[in-house]
Amino acid sequence: MLVIDLGGQYAQLIARRVREARVYSEVVSHRVTAAELRQRHPAALILSGGGASVYAEGSPHIDQGIYELGVPTLGICYGMQLMALDLGGRVDRTGGSEFGKTDLRASGGRLFGDLPQEQTVWMSHGDSVVAAPAGATVVAGSASTPIAAFEDDARKVYGVQFHPEVVHTPHGQAVLKNFLYEIAGITPSWTPAAVIEEQVERIRTTVGTDRVLCGLSGGVDSAVAALLVHKAVGDQLTCVFVDHGFLRQGEADQVVEAFRGHFHVPLVHVQAQERFLAKLEGITDPEQKRKRIGEEFIRVFEEEARKLGRTPWLVQGTLYSDVIESGGEDGVAATIKSHHNVGGLPADMDMKLVEPLRMLFKDEVRRVGEELGMPERMVWRQPFPGPGLAIRIIGEVTAERLETLREADAILQEEIRRAGLYRDLWQSFAVLPAIRSVGVQGDSRTYGYPVVIRAVTSDDAMTADWARLPYDLVELVASRIVNEIAAVNRVVLDVTSKPPATIEWE
Ligand code: XMP
Repeated sequence: MLVIDLGGQYAQLIARRVREARVYSEVVSHRVTAAELRQRHPAALILSGGGASVYAEGSPHIDQGIYELGVPTLGICYGMQLMALDLGGRVDRTGGSEFGKTDLRASGGRLFGDLPQEQTVWMSHGDSVVAAPAGATVVAGSASTPIAAFEDDARKVYGVQFHPEVVHTPHGQAVLKNFLYEIAGITPSWTPAAVIEEQVERIRTTVGTDRVLCGLSGGVDSAVAALLVHKAVGDQLTCVFVDHGFLRQGEADQVVEAFRGHFHVPLVHVQAQERFLAKLEGITDPEQKRKRIGEEFIRVFEEEARKLGRTPWLVQGTLYSDVIESGGEDGVAATIKSHHNVGGLPADMDMKLVEPLRMLFKDEVRRVGEELGMPERMVWRQPFPGPGLAIRIIGEVTAERLETLREADAILQEEIRRAGLYRDLWQSFAVLPAIRSVGVQGDSRTYGYPVVIRAVTSDDAMTADWARLPYDLVELVASRIVNEIAAVNRVVLDVTSKPPATIEWE
């Protein structure tokens, strides 16, 4: 199934929802030609929503030949309007824009199948379709948009004005499934097990009998990528885990235990904590910290790689969202994001990349990890920045501050897990600003660090809301931190969203 991207952030979300319906989908540019599409034999097409008006100058259009392919095609929002315009219907600026939750009334139609005739949907549009394409039947409307959905079985074109892919359309996923299964006749077969089988095969063909190297960061992406490669080529793979000393409590041990102990993957565990700490001496600027950690990481990694002898392949945990964001599959070579990727490719190592997660979204990577038998704690770990705790100490990073922050963070994690909130939060962590304030304990005055509790909810880290943690939980965490950690005498809660703040403090 291919989603034609007509702008905005909708295409990726549609592709994810389609995959949740167990149908493999990819996003392609609206510049794709009908001939290119034909070669890929898609079982169905979706024209995504987009921010523009179909009449705006420079607004995205598609190759008209696409409608002649005979492939069932669903237009969503902007995609529906474009379809109407291209196929002889009419789109007007009606003046009445619709935004947010809207009551929809369906009247039959295969898209709505046996769904309730009255349902709530999410709309976001200015223009409206005022005449459906000739031959199409109108199958749903709302108070201000009489043509909110149309169908034409003869031409195999379908359109909905609302967004079935967003959670605010409760029956949206069912509408998508009706399109995929009932209309396009696709059998849902895209499962984690199928992904593993396909990738293992592909990795074997790609690397043959060559040796492969993989850098582990402690995060879920590199771990799942490594396990896939190990499943494919066994001990031809060696993993290198550079422990920079900025991981959370117990995380380094978990990596070693899982890989060496449980999965028996050849693993080099480089204890480089002192080297990294030395590089950060006297450094307070956040970007300097990132830069120094990134450079040192590559240096250590290269040293270890050299010791292993010639290894032509390097595993990289690139995800599909990175691929789309860096220009998609049509881009020439893999673009590696340097800023957010401490385990980046050393510039002069002359290795070829194996990227087994290149077509997967994050939630799929997690499901593949589960299927491969990865421990729950590793699979569901909240996102954690490459430079780790070093950018959660505001000021110079010292061994003593690292220890203090690590302890405070461990208490927070423990209580959040105990309260059953860990998976509901996008991220939750402690921050240590290297300042001191006055407190009193027993009869004496203290002069200690504050610890900040930061917890956010988010879908993609682009925006985030501060999490409304229960006050009793906040109190418990605060009292445990000040009682159990001598260097801390104050706990504060960060109640800012992103924007204007960022998730991390540095
Ligand atoms: P901000 O703080 O910009 O973070 O709202 C957005 C997301 O990115 C993560 N983050 C990083 N990840 N290296 C990384 O690998 C970094 O230097 C870095 N800085 C921020 C952050 O944890 C959040 O998930």
